[in-house]
Amino acid sequence: MVQSITSSVTKSIDRLRKEINYHNHRYYVLDDPEVSDSEYDRLMLELKALEDKYPQLIVSESPTQRVGAKLADDVQKVKHSSPMLSLENAFDAEDIVKFDKRNREKLGLDKISYAVEPKLDGLAVSLRYEKGATRGDGNVGEDITHNVRTIPSIPLKLIAEPIPEVFEVRGEVFMPKSGFERLNRQAAQEGGKLFMNPRNAAAGSLRNDDPKVTAKRPLDFIAYGLGAAQGIKLPTTYGESIALIKRLGLPISPEFKVVNDVDECISYFGKLATKRESLAYEIDGIVYKVNDLKSQEKLGYVSRAPRWAIAFKFPAQEETTVLLAIEVQVGRTGALTPVAKVEPVFVGGVTISNVTLHNQDEIERKDIRIGDTVVVRRAGDVIPQVVSVIKGKRKKGALKFKFPQNCPECGSEVIQTPGEAVVRCTGGSSCPAQRREALKHFSSRRAMNIEGLGEKIVTQLESCGLVADIADIYQLTKEQIASLERMGAKSAENLLNEIEKSKDTSFGKFLYALGIREVGESTAQLLAETFTSLEELMEADTESLVAINDIGPVMAENIVSFFKQSRNKQIIKKLILSGIRWEVSDTKPVTPLSGFADKVFVVTGTLSDMTRDEAKDRIKQAGGKVTNSVSKK
Ligand code: IVH
Repeated sequence: MVQSITSSVTKSIDRLRKEINYHNHRYYVLDDPEVSDSEYDRLMLELKALEDKYPQLIVSESPTQRVGAKLADDVQKVKHSSPMLSLENAFDAEDIVKFDKRNREKLGLDKISYAVEPKLDGLAVSLRYEKGATRGDGNVGEDITHNVRTIPSIPLKLIAEPIPEVFEVRGEVFMPKSGFERLNRQAAQEGGKLFMNPRNAAAGSLRNDDPKVTAKRPLDFIAYGLGAAQGIKLPTTYGESIALIKRLGLPISPEFKVVNDVDECISYFGKLATKRESLAYEIDGIVYKVNDLKSQEKLGYVSRAPRWAIAFKFPAQEETTVLLAIEVQVGRTGALTPVAKVEPVFVGGVTISNVTLHNQDEIERKDIRIGDTVVVRRAGDVIPQVVSVIKGKRKKGALKFKFPQNCPECGSEVIQTPGEAVVRCTGGSSCPAQRREALKHFSSRRAMNIEGLGEKIVTQLESCGLVADIADIYQLTKEQIASLERMGAKSAENLLNEIEKSKDTSFGKFLYALGIREVGESTAQLLAETFTSLEELMEADTESLVAINDIGPVMAENIVSFFKQSRNKQIIKKLILSGIRWEVSDTKPVTPLSGFADKVFVVTGTLSDMTRDEAKDRIKQAGGKVTNSVSKK
C-alpha cells in the first residue's frame, strides 16, 4: 500500500537533499568538509529510509540516485549543441610569442589578457544539465550520463540561484594519481588486468556499461569552458565563465588564472612545470585562451581548432623503447637491483638508457622479458621505471630473466628474507660493490660532502686496494692519489683539501654517512638531536631507541646491531682519531618557527633563492617535516 504523503515528509526529504548536496560540494569540490563522514552517512541513511518508504518522491537528481542500473543496450550517441574541439600545440616559448603576435595583429591590440590553466590528461566531456557525453567525433558523442552521474564532484543539480534553463559545461574527467595507483595495486592483488596510465583507467571506467563499476572508480572532474547557456546573464570573459561555473557548484582548476600579457603566460609555464609532480593529477601541458569572449569570436577557428587558444605541451613522461638486457647492481646494503638497459629514448626531458626494475617480483608481475618493447616513464625526480610491456610486439624467443643465485660482484650466496622483496648479497664488507657503494655514500653531498670523490675515483681507489673502508679515506696521501689514472698533482692536492675540509661536519651528517641500514637523513638527524654524544648512542639498547617517536623496532634493531659489530666500532674509532669533529650545539633540539611545526612539506622543481636541499634543511630547522610525495592530507 502506498503511504499517504504529508507536506512534512516532502519538506524533510527536500531539506535532507539540500543538506547532503551542500556537504557533498564542500567535500568533493571545495576540499573543505564541514561534517564528519559518519554525520554525512547518517544524513544519507535518513534520506534513503524516507525514499524507501515513499518511492513516488524519488527524483533522478536525488543524491541517492547517482548509481543507476546496468545499461540494457549499447551506448547511445548524442549530438552536442556546439562541436567539441581540439587545440593547436606549441612546443616552446617562441610558439607562444608567435601565437600572441598573431592575435594582437588580428585584434589590433598592444597587449592581450589570457586565461591560463593546466591541460588535464583525461577525457573531454560535455555536461548538459542533465546530459553528459564524451567527445566522439566532435559533433556527436557517446551518451555516458549514467556513468558521469557517479562522479561525486559533479553535482546532479546546480547549486546556486538563478538556475539557468540550459547550462552546458565542458571539462575533463580524469583519475587522480593516487586513485590510479590504488586501483592498480588492487588489480594486481586480485590478479586482474592493470591499466596503462590514469588516462586509460579513466577512459575504461567511463565507458563501462555498469554504473556500479564506474562508481567504485576514483574519478574526478574539472571544468574548462561553457557550451550553450540560456536563461542566465552571459559572461563577457572566459574568467567570468569559470567564476559562473564555480558558483553553480562545479569544480574548476585551482591553478586557473588570468594574466595580463604574453610574458606572464611564459612565467606561468615555468611555475606550473615546477608544480607538475606535486599535483594530485596528471597534466600534459598548459592551455592559454584569449580571455575576452568577443575577441575569441573575432579570432574564430581553423578547421576544428580555435585560433584563440593554444596548448603548450610538456615533454612526454612516457615513451616506448626496447629492452636490450637486464643487469644486476649491488647496492650499499647488498641489495641486488635488476636494471634494464634500454635503447636510449628521450622521455621527461632527458635521454635515458637505464631503467630500474626494482626486484624480481616486479619483473614477474609485469612479465618483463629481454627483447620486449616496453613503455618507460620518467616523471620529475623519480627514477625511470618500466610501466608495462607491449605484449602485441613481443617477438618469439623473448627471454625470461633468471635472477642470479650468487652475487654478480663477489660470488657470495644471495638470500631473501621471507616477506621481503629484496634479495641481498651475503658478502658484506668483502664484496667490492658494497664497499664501493659505502664509500660513495659516505662522501656524497648530503653526508660528508667530499667534493671530487665520486664514482670514478672511488672505483679506482677500491680496486687498487688503497681504501677498504670509509676510514681509509682519511689515511690517503697525496702521492697515492696522484698515482691514480688521469690524476695530476694539482687535482690530488685539491682532493686532499676536500677530504680535510670534510672533517668539520655535524653529528647528524656523520651518522647518516655511516650508512646504517634504513637510517636515512631524517632519522640520523633525529638521533643526533636525541643523543648528546656518539658514545651514548653507541650504547643505546633497542628499548630506548623504540621510545623515540618515529623509530620502529626494525630500525632500532639495525642501529643496535650496527654499533655492536667490532668492525664498525673500529672504523668509527679510526674516523674520530683522524680528526672528524662536530659542534655539540648542532645536537640542540630545533627551535620551531611559528607556522612550521606539525606541517609537512614537499619540495620539488627549481627554487630561485636556494637549492632544494637547502630548502629542506631550513624547513627542518624551523620545525617542519619534509616528505617526498603529496598525500591527501
Ligand atoms: S579547451 C576550444 N582546456 O585537450 C578548446 N581543453 O587538445 C577546447 N583539455 O579535447 C578545449 N585540459 O580533452 C581545453 N584546460 C583545458 C584542457 C583541455 C585538457 C583537453 C580536452 C580537449 C583536448 C584538446
